[in-house]
Amino acid sequence: MTERRPLLIGNWKMYKTLAEARSFAQELGQQSTRLCMAIDYGICAPFTSLHLLRVMLPAQVRIGAQDVYYETEGAFTGEISAPMLADFGTHFVLVGHSERRSLFGESNAMVAKKAAAVLRHGMVPVVCVGESLAERERGETLAVVLSQLDAVFDALADADIADFVVAYEPVWAIGSGKTATVNDAGEVASAIRTHLATIRSAEFAANLRILYGGSVKPGNIASFLEHADIDGALVGGASLEANSFADMAEAAGGCSA
Ligand code: PGA
Repeated sequence: MTERRPLLIGNWKMYKTLAEARSFAQELGQQSTRLCMAIDYGICAPFTSLHLLRVMLPAQVRIGAQDVYYETEGAFTGEISAPMLADFGTHFVLVGHSERRSLFGESNAMVAKKAAAVLRHGMVPVVCVGESLAERERGETLAVVLSQLDAVFDALADADIADFVVAYEPVWAIGSGKTATVNDAGEVASAIRTHLATIRSAEFAANLRILYGGSVKPGNIASFLEHADIDGALVGGASLEANSFADMAEAAGGCSA
């Protein structure tokens, strides 16, 4: 049985000036002994804070971007490419977050190209999938989530994949204070793993880390991690305070000290 290390990733969205990012890094640094070494950590921050965070965050916390453009360079005003991110040590890149899909019109095809670009440049894509409330109520959750994944994996059929993360984030649970039940989230995570064993390989599926996201906080993270197919969490609001981030690291368990 493969050992999948738990993974806790913060998604800061469009929050924090440089001064605020510096305070977070300093506070987390003071609490770094609470960040158990049995867990992997990432903070996906706005581009403007990434360099500072790479220098200032405790060594076990890797930096991540919230988006990327799939072309390498060129006349794409306002965009940031995968080689630019890789160049200064970005480890994770969120791809296809539901806010990107719904507010900025990202299609499955764009999400697939972005994931491919992230892999080509040696970083780890965190591909976000999830259903809307209407889709859940119509019983379409698995169809929606698996078709979002199919679009990505069709485009990656020939790609070498060293490390890959899927974040299952029901759209209605993001920023709403409502979470999926552990059973519902776990059922989707299990379906994702089974599906990827079929379309990719059993080994790939066994190594894949699947995160739950949507109103995760210190008080509920442990219950999600108890599910055998949920390997960690992608956390928005509750990742903005260093203390809360360290609380989640502790609650996620794995360390006795
Ligand atoms: P939330 O956001 O934890 O604030 O619900 C999660 C996300 O958007 O990744």
